[in-house]
Amino acid sequence: MTKPVILTGLRANNDLHIGNYFGALLPFIDMAKTKADDYQLDLFVPDLHSFTTPIDHSKLQQQIMHNLKLFVAAGLPLNSDNIRIYRQSYIPAHSELTWILDCFTGFGEMSRMTQFKDKSSGLGAERVTVGLFNYPVLMAADILLYGATYVPVGDDQTQHLEFARDIAERMNNKFGELFVVPKPVKDQNAFFGKDQGLRIKDLVEPTKKMSKSDDTGKGVIFLGDTPDVAAKKVMSATTDSEGVVRFDTAKQPGIANLLQILALARGEDLSSVIDHYDGQTSYGALKTAVAEAVVDLLGDFQARMELIDENDLLAKLEHDEAIMNATANKTLLQVQKAVGLRA
Ligand code: TYM
Repeated sequence: MTKPVILTGLRANNDLHIGNYFGALLPFIDMAKTKADDYQLDLFVPDLHSFTTPIDHSKLQQQIMHNLKLFVAAGLPLNSDNIRIYRQSYIPAHSELTWILDCFTGFGEMSRMTQFKDKSSGLGAERVTVGLFNYPVLMAADILLYGATYVPVGDDQTQHLEFARDIAERMNNKFGELFVVPKPVKDQNAFFGKDQGLRIKDLVEPTKKMSKSDDTGKGVIFLGDTPDVAAKKVMSATTDSEGVVRFDTAKQPGIANLLQILALARGEDLSSVIDHYDGQTSYGALKTAVAEAVVDLLGDFQARMELIDENDLLAKLEHDEAIMNATANKTLLQVQKAVGLRA
């Protein structure tokens, strides 16, 4: 019997930040460390998704390799056949399945995607690309090609995950059982041991999510930030004038975000961190604790980056890409047959 698949991807449009790390990479790595015997675990760089908004293309190659190294520094074991790493564009079936799914996707349903509305609103009409519009269809292809059941993502991606479920069910209803339908978001959260998707906020504008696409980077802690830079970003995080620490995401989003980051960086329960700080009147003490926890986290990370052997990583990558091509082509062929492209 084939094993259930846990799959996720992190784009290479910039360095990864602690939101990417806590929201998607860490839950995946935890599974890779504890469940590799019972599940197939697929972790990839969606390099085709990297330029749905403008990037410096001369840096993309380097960024892809850098982010793959970050996966290893985060603790991804390279020595298991149940764990695969790959680059999306090295598996052409992703693009081919996307085109087919496009033709069963409504223009209206893509126009309603929150990420599309958010990202396109900051750009002039001529800079809003069809690629940005189409982003969730490629993401659905990424998931459905390998029959993924569980997909650890941050809260901002749950709408896209719902779309992957919708298009899988739509195709199955029309053509018979083509795709494994990923679990509903509620079941996904339960599987990854949380009540809801995670959304780490920008430190300067804590009502916005922390985002790689933020050009200033002032409110974003990148995994490659030096401890000094990261600590400064934490110490100048926007708070409020309430003067008392409370976990109130509506009234005190900056403080709530700091409490959340502290819990995650220390690997402690949010509730015990809240119990400890609730009612305290010094925001400085909380910020100092967060800065220390983040500095420790980044220090460990960066030390591990130094130890990675790029040749081992490349060998694993090429080996896994050959296997993923075979798996993806099998699914693609079923779909091509179903829609009448193959006999
Ligand atoms: P990307 O690279 O933008 O984000 C990678 C992951 O990080 C999560 N994330 C966050 N989590 C918590 N707080 C934040 N502030 C925060 N910012 C980002 C994202 O939710 C994501 O899980 N579309 C995906 C890439 C992708 C993918 C896939 C994922 C392409 N195909 C198939 C899963 C399955 C994305 O948002 O990448």
